Formats: sequence, structure tokens, C-alpha cells
Amino acid sequence: MSDESSETNQTNQTLSNLMQEDRTFDPPTELAENANVTQATFDEAAEDRLAFWAKAAERLDWAEPFDEVLDWSNPPFAKWFVGGKLNAAYNCVDRHVEAGLGDRVAFHWEGEPVDDKRTITYADLKDEVCRAANALTDLGVQKGDRVAIYMPMIPETAVAMLACARLGAIHTVVFGGFSSDALASRVLDCEASVIVTSDGGYRRGAPSALKPAVDEAVAKVAEERDDLVKKVLVVKRTGEDVAWNDDLDVWWHDVVDSASPAHECEFFDSEHPLYVMYTSGTTGKPKGILHTTGGYLVGTSWTHWAVFDLKPETDVYWCTADVGWVTGHSYMVYGPLANATTQVMYEGTPDSPEKGRWWQIIEEYGVTIFYTAPTAIRSFMKQGREIPDQRDLSSLRLLGSVGEPINPEAYMWYREVIGAERCPVVDTWWQTETGQIMISPLPGVTAGKPGSAMAPIPGVVAAVVNDEGKEVGNGQGGYLVLKEPWPAMLRTLWGDDERFKETYWSRFEDTYFAGDGAKLDDDGAIWLLGRVDDVMNVSGHRLSTTEIESALVSHPKVAEAAVVGAKDEDTGQAVCAFVILRESAGDGGKDIVEELRNHVRKEIGAIAKPRQIMVVPELPKTRSGKIMRRLLKDVAENREVGDVTTLADSTVMDLISDGMGGKS
Ligand code: WTA
Repeated sequence: MSDESSETNQTNQTLSNLMQEDRTFDPPTELAENANVTQATFDEAAEDRLAFWAKAAERLDWAEPFDEVLDWSNPPFAKWFVGGKLNAAYNCVDRHVEAGLGDRVAFHWEGEPVDDKRTITYADLKDEVCRAANALTDLGVQKGDRVAIYMPMIPETAVAMLACARLGAIHTVVFGGFSSDALASRVLDCEASVIVTSDGGYRRGAPSALKPAVDEAVAKVAEERDDLVKKVLVVKRTGEDVAWNDDLDVWWHDVVDSASPAHECEFFDSEHPLYVMYTSGTTGKPKGILHTTGGYLVGTSWTHWAVFDLKPETDVYWCTADVGWVTGHSYMVYGPLANATTQVMYEGTPDSPEKGRWWQIIEEYGVTIFYTAPTAIRSFMKQGREIPDQRDLSSLRLLGSVGEPINPEAYMWYREVIGAERCPVVDTWWQTETGQIMISPLPGVTAGKPGSAMAPIPGVVAAVVNDEGKEVGNGQGGYLVLKEPWPAMLRTLWGDDERFKETYWSRFEDTYFAGDGAKLDDDGAIWLLGRVDDVMNVSGHRLSTTEIESALVSHPKVAEAAVVGAKDEDTGQAVCAFVILRESAGDGGKDIVEELRNHVRKEIGAIAKPRQIMVVPELPKTRSGKIMRRLLKDVAENREVGDVTTLADSTVMDLISDGMGGKS
């Protein structure tokens, strides 16, 4: 058995306890009676999947109709809505204004400083996107060019994305918490010619600068390529001083505010690239996930409408994800805006200036649909129900969860304390690669079980299979796979078709391998068990063990490093590193651990900073030299160390355990 599958087995054991879970919550009657999706939709999709997606595509405005729903003649390279032409920004903004919805609020934007608010209607958004598109054109951006966006949670971020989409330029949003190195490597990989950023944003009650990291990234990029970044467009948000390069830097308010709000958009092929989002894979180099226009917009807008039972005339929707992650792309920008949703966008941290900030925002705007992550729910649970109880949350009617398996206790707390047992919880499983929600209850149809994402949505075909690719049947565990293509699926990895095939399509024939373990219960509900590869999930953020190992090894005092994700009450998993120092480094000095933690922060970003670093004399390896992370995970999780018989040197674990004070 491979190292990975025995790790899955371990998780299986833990989870089989959870699966004794027999609480089930039926859809609330009133919601079910008025739900957007009923059982009939499931039946329709089961009968003819492609006809179902073709119907979903009618949600959009096509400048040219498509003549084929799916071209799967060259798997795994899919083409959806072949021959169709559309513009994503037109679908998200202009058409709503043309339909008379210009006065509807698109964003209730809430800055972190209290009373720093903006209300942006669809008409405002249209003007701003057109101005930005004109300004980007003046800066030389053309169809097909790449634009990196490194921003805080301010309206200009969505505007910049939509302006790129309007021009057919491909955006790559880099999470503002990532380091300058991470930004530089992404700019280099997708060869971006413009970076959009801001002086900074507000976090934890203070301005947090972004522009200095961009300056560093630009310098790093220039060392390798002098033909890439031509302009840096900077939004003034905090007003803090920034270094300025007149040849490169341009203020947003100088060029966007004065640009014309009129812009005639071009309509692009359904398969025209929309964006690249980098995510951690099992090797050190992040993968550039490529999404295209037509299928992505159909997949995100239909699922946003169906899974959240969206009633755009009356709902106020709030997704707390940062726009730097795929959730912010699919369920804050493209899906909701294509559906003419009114939403809340919040700039800052949940506990600023007080622990109940999120609940105050829900009360203030009358939020009806709330979408967040288990890690946030767990941290609120810890603070106690007194804090949300101080606010009137009675506007809420539906709750969503995403990013990692939600533990039943967190689900129950969310349901009872935030949802007052009135609101269904939709636990939505999907990935950067899938682009859209794939497995989730539909709130008017599917009962919810705490901890289970339940079943594939209509039009999606998923299965749980064993090592041989055979479906395991009810009550069994294995790997989650997707058996048929779906509209918002990734089309390839940027510039690397081979790695695309190898990563997702080589394990099982013509089947997408998601990298997650899963189990079917006796009713056939799907329980996600976490990653089966070297990808960790820390607070719902994906990090690769190899990426952090490479960062550690790039430190002059480190000879070798192994990283594992250990269970953590707050963050789901936490980064634990084992390092061997170089002989020349001696014992590394008394601050070695802090020094290495900060080094990882600098190389990747604060989210990758290890919770723990242990300096060890040796690492456990198989005879073929593969590090047995399973054993290190035992140490990190304070468990008895498992089977060591396949180690080249079985005494190594004793050495490590001794070094840990015999903890294992
Ligand atoms: C995990 C985030 C269980 C899973 C949208 C997946 C989940 C990875 C869930 C993708 C869920 C996400 N239940 N696990 N509801 N949602 N995951 O690309 O391991 O950042 O493969 O996309 O997160 O993370 P990504």
C-alpha cells in the first residue's frame, strides 16, 4: 500500500466515527415550496446532461449562439458551447443595466474602518468597468494579454477583473497575502505586462501596504525578463507614502477617473481564456489553472442561482472569501454578478474593531445568504455564542460552507447559532480546477447531514473509486473522481498541457482525479475525507508540502526538510516542518526556529508559515529514498508512530522521537 493510501485509511478510520452521524435535516417547507430547483431538475439532467447544460446556458446573453454544447473529441481538452460568442463583463454588468436594473445595488462595500462605506449600483459598476477598460487600453493592454492583480478587498479589484474580461485580457489575481516572490513567479509564469495594485488596504485595524511588495516583485521579474511588466496601475486606498517610479507607475485616479465611461465591447469565442488562477499542486511550482469564458460563466451562474436558491430581487448575498482565491472569482465576481445579485463586500478581518464585526455587517445590510469557511466558523465557536447573539441575524435564510470538510460540531453550531435552526446549510465541495460547485445539497431538495457534502449537483457525474478505478459502493471509501466533463472545468494548466494530463487525467482513464479521498455512506451520501496527495489544507487554503520544503531548503542553514499537515483545531490542518541543518550551521543558534518560520513567510506568505519546526538529525526514508511523511505526521499529531518496517533505517524514528523528548 502506498504512503498516501494508508494516510487515507487513517482518515477513514477517524471519519467512520463521524459517519455514525444520523442527524438529517430536511429542507424547510417554505423554502422547498418556492425553491429555484426541484427534483424535476435532477431528473431532467439525469436524462440528458448536455441538454440540461444547454438550457442553463440560456441564462446568459450570447452575441452568437453556440452550435454544439460540448466537444469532447480530444479528451481531456474540452470545448463547451462551441461557436458561441459572448463577453463576460457584458453579461455581468451591461445587460442588467439595459434590462432596467441600473439602480440595483451590486456591492454594499464595507471598509474595515467603521463608517468607511460605498454603495455601488449596477449603473455605477458599468461606468467604472468601462472607464477602467479604456484606461487599460491606453496603457497598452490588448486581447489575450495577461494582467496581474494584487489587491485588497476593494471594489476596484472586481472592476479591474471585469475590465480585463471586457477587453479579452486574461487576469491573474494573486492573493494580497502572498509575498513578492510568489507574485514575481506568477508574473513570470504567465508573462504579465501590467500589474494592478493599491498602496495597501486595511487589515486588523491598520493600513497594510501592498505596493512595496509589487516594487520588489517588479525588480525580481526584471532580473529575469526585461520585456514583461510595462505598467503598474495603483489604486490609492490608504494614502500611505509609496515609492514611485515615473516610467512605470500610474495612479488609478489619474487615468481611470478621467477616462470615458463609454466602451463598446467585443464578443469573444466561448473558449476565449478568461483567467489564470495559480494554486498549489504536489510539486513545488504552483499550477496556473486556466478558465475560459462561456462554460465558466454558465457553470458559476447556474450553481450560484441553484445552490444558494438565489432570488436576485430580494436577496442580499455575502461571500466572505478573499477575491484572491477561486471562491472570490466564482462566487463573488462572476457567478453573482452574472445573476444581478446584490452583495456585500467587506475589506477587513472578522475581528476588527471588535469580534462581532461580521454579525454587525449581517444585521446592517440584512444579509439573507451567507457563504463562509469552516475555519472561520470554528474560530467563532471558540469565542462563544454571546458574540453573534448580540446581533439580529433574522434576515438570514441560507448558509453555505466551502474550503474543507466541515466537522459536524461546527456544522451544528453554524446551523443553531447563526441559522437559528431555520436556515439550511449547504456544504459545497469544489476546487480551483472545477471552477464551480460540484457536490452540494440543493436546499429545496436535498436533506443535509452534518459533515457531508451529500450528492453531485444536476449535470455533474461523480464517483468514489478504489485503486483500480472501480466504484466502491455504499459504505466504502476511496478516491473521488468526476466521470464526465462539466462547463466550468479547467481547460489546461497555463503553458503546460502535459502536466495537465498527467496531474488529473492519468490515474484513471478519461476520468478526472480530484486528489480527495471520499466515502459513500449507506444512503449514498458523499463524505469528503481530505487530500490524498501532498497538498495541505490550512484554513481552507491549499498549500503544497513540496513548495514549503523548497522554501525551507533555500535557507542557507538548512540541508533537508520535510513538511506535513498535522491536524489543528482551528485551521483544520497546520504546517509542521522537520528540518536537518547543514553541518556548517552547527545547532543553528537559539533563534533558528523563528528564523526559519520567517523565511517561509518571506518566500511564500504568512499563510504558509509553519506552526511548528522541529530540528532533527535524520528524516525517515524508504529504501528508494522517499520521505515517509506518514510517520512524521504521527509525530506531529502526537500519535504512536506507525509501521516503520519499510524504512531504510528503522532506528531513525527513535532518533527523531528522542529529539522530541520522547513525545511519540
Ligand atoms: C477541499 C476551494 C471538503 C478539497 C473551493 C478540495 C473541501 C480543495 C470542500 C480545493 C468541502 C473544498 N468539503 N473538502 N465542502 N471544499 N474542499 O482549490 O480538499 O482552494 O480538493 O478550492 O479544498 O481547494 P481550492
